[in-house]
Amino acid sequence: PGLQSRVDDYLGEYLSQKSGSIENFQDMAFSRSSSSGSIATDEGLFEQPDPLPHSKAAMENIIWRRSLQLRSQQQFWQESPEGRKMLEFRRSLPAYKEKDALLMAISQNQVVIISGQTGCGKTTQIPQFILESEIESVRGAQCSIICTQPRRISAISVSERVAAERGEILGETVGYKVRLEGMKGRDTHLLFCTTGILLRRLLVDRNLKGVTHVIVDEIHERGMNEDFLLIVLKDLLPSRPELRLILMSATLDAELFSSFFGGAPMVHIPGFTYPVQTHFLENILEMTGYMLTPDNQIDDYGQEKMWKMNKQAPRKRKSQIASAVEDALRAADFMEYSSQTQESLSCWNPDCIGFNLIEYLLCNICEKERPGAVLVFMTGWDDISSLKEKLQAHPILGDTSRVLLLACHGSMASSEQRLIFDKPEDGVRKIVLATNIAETSITINDVVFVIDCGKAKETSYDALNNTPCLLPSWISKVSAQQRRGRAGRVRPGECYHLYPRCVYDAFAEYQLPEILRTPLQSLCLQIKSLKLGSISEFLSRALQSPEILAVQNAIEYLKIIGALDEKENLTVLGRHLTILPVEPKLGKMLILGAIFNCLDPILTVVAGLSVRDPFLTPLDKKDLAEAAKAQFSRDYSDHLALVRAYEGWKDAERDLGGYDYCWKNFLSAQSMKAIDSLRREFCSLLKDTGLIDSNSYTCNTWSYDEHLVRAVICYGLYPGICSVVHNEKSFSLKTMEDGPVLLYSNSVNTRESKIPYPWLVFNEKIKVNSVFLRDSTAVSDSVLLLFGGSILKGDTVGHLKMLGGYFEFFMKPDIAEMYQSLRRELEELIQNK
Ligand code: CDP
Ligand code: MG
Repeated sequence: PGLQSRVDDYLGEYLSQKSGSIENFQDMAFSRSSSSGSIATDEGLFEQPDPLPHSKAAMENIIWRRSLQLRSQQQFWQESPEGRKMLEFRRSLPAYKEKDALLMAISQNQVVIISGQTGCGKTTQIPQFILESEIESVRGAQCSIICTQPRRISAISVSERVAAERGEILGETVGYKVRLEGMKGRDTHLLFCTTGILLRRLLVDRNLKGVTHVIVDEIHERGMNEDFLLIVLKDLLPSRPELRLILMSATLDAELFSSFFGGAPMVHIPGFTYPVQTHFLENILEMTGYMLTPDNQIDDYGQEKMWKMNKQAPRKRKSQIASAVEDALRAADFMEYSSQTQESLSCWNPDCIGFNLIEYLLCNICEKERPGAVLVFMTGWDDISSLKEKLQAHPILGDTSRVLLLACHGSMASSEQRLIFDKPEDGVRKIVLATNIAETSITINDVVFVIDCGKAKETSYDALNNTPCLLPSWISKVSAQQRRGRAGRVRPGECYHLYPRCVYDAFAEYQLPEILRTPLQSLCLQIKSLKLGSISEFLSRALQSPEILAVQNAIEYLKIIGALDEKENLTVLGRHLTILPVEPKLGKMLILGAIFNCLDPILTVVAGLSVRDPFLTPLDKKDLAEAAKAQFSRDYSDHLALVRAYEGWKDAERDLGGYDYCWKNFLSAQSMKAIDSLRREFCSLLKDTGLIDSNSYTCNTWSYDEHLVRAVICYGLYPGICSVVHNEKSFSLKTMEDGPVLLYSNSVNTRESKIPYPWLVFNEKIKVNSVFLRDSTAVSDSVLLLFGGSILKGDTVGHLKMLGGYFEFFMKPDIAEMYQSLRRELEELIQNK
């Protein structure tokens, strides 16, 4: 323990010396210009304009002149033919009719809650109304409006739209800022940003100096960041009486928010939509022709049986009905198509939806229905891409002269997004396969048909087992209504729900807020870094507070990894972690990678864990894909396999062969590019913190030392460890908390019959039926002992407790000796640095 605590001291001291004043460095981290190379500057909106060396009168004059300029620009634009058309469109939106009432409410109240149907013009119009009225007033060009969006894709697309409505280039008056990307200039008065960006701003500027309006959009989604932001803003309001807060929701449940803000007024924008004809599964089955004869098999599987069940067992209803639907879909699916395509039941994926049924519906729409785009709601990126592949091979749906097939999900590139909004050529049917991102935050104008699978991937968190789960689960009634509503925006539409009416009736009214169903570690760190006092006390003031157990788990975790001390204060390590926009464990890896001069592979590992899995496993080519991944593996580590894959890609990319390389190796080119740019972002953050200097060579002297890299990975992933138990032919795994666990099938370690290390550290465990570990790396006893737990905290006892029987092992003299000598080496390493 003496030695251990000395090592900790070194490391703690080292960190504090290197980074200088942490506040300084937070400033730098925020104002650093974007690494993506776009014309982003962080000056302008957030900071006050340069202190003007003029008198008060002169300053007012300057602001007045700027207002006049902005006003005449707009007048000029609105008189042009294009501008007139745009204005006409804006005036046709329901929000426009409420303009005066909205502005009045905002000027008279510090907090206003606005609700209105998706597409009524909340996001694009309300910030503009405020901007325009400010420009008209004396305050004029001084206003700075921030409008937050839960997702980067909506922040970007909305800012583009608003700039276009004002006849401007993006980055003039209207701009956006999301992680890694931004467009804004000195004269930007209206900024769309992700909620995370505003939270990071609050880190350096608690009072939001210079900001006049904060608009929090899509509050009905009840995302964790938004819920958190609302508590912080609520605390800020009394000290900033001039600041206006506007909350916008696509659903009518505004009372909760109103009472949270002491009875703030609610304004509703009455909407108009065309009628949408609704088809539930029973109607769809009827359409396929299988419901017609009473002795038909579908009847057995389908409607009758389901209705009977409904009456007989009301308490067990939901799960039984769910399996009945699956049976029904399976049957419909299979019978419709097996005769034509010879596909077997194995292509049916019960976790997703009946692909065949969707294909059938799409075909039907393309062949028989009136013009109009189709929006298909799927659960996630993986089933979108598998369905897209399937449809592309279809004779009608894959014919690009007739069908424009697009995907819409959170991680797509910005260039891809634009296509979604464009009108296709005449005679071409646009089909958009989307996640629930298209439910409220993105409006695709020309949608007339909606197909709704009824499920969405939702992270949930089991506080008792301290295990996050990511499962497709049934959506809420409100979500189903939103999805249906997307069909009736331009003319009467049709909506196909791929589940029966009785399942819809069993849906929950609303979805559970994210803060109640996800792990809270990063949130707790944020609370601490914003100096908001006790974590539990702060969270007890949330709109809906998370379970006490969940909060305790998060705090405990942060203590184990050394980010919080016993008194729940941020440690030096903890403060560093709040700067790095990644999960705490990944932040730890980056910091240690920098200190131990093996940064390059660690950058790849961390970036790889922050993006969607770059190793693709198409359902029908699973074996090939897994074999492709295995060729990158040599050392029982998924993380190191990724490092190899990335290095190969980088070489290929240099010769312009990046795509071919990805194609051959079942890698996602998009993820590879994302990894590339994240690596650059992390690198410049680390430079700002002073942890690495600009000479990238010095921080890589040990990059090829695979043992050291493994150790740094272990340092980050601890306490995610499981022990490897060998038997005659293979091995099994178990963790302290869960007992036996399994590896994800695409882990390189599943292909091994023996793992010559006693432990695996893993990135994530997910409970599906059993507990599965994703991305693992094998480590030795000594590495775990030296790098597991917090070196900074020196919690040897807790550590050994975690390892259980490992204690005895440690007592063996030769091991103890090895430990001592390794620890000495480690110490030397730190001293030399
Ligand atoms: O926020 P809310 O759902 O109330 O509506 P919005 O996003 O402000 O969109 C208002 C209208 O602008 C929509 O009905 C779309 O027709 C149009 N819009 C568009 O054409 N292109 C965009 N990128 C965004 C909106
Ligand atoms: Mg909106």
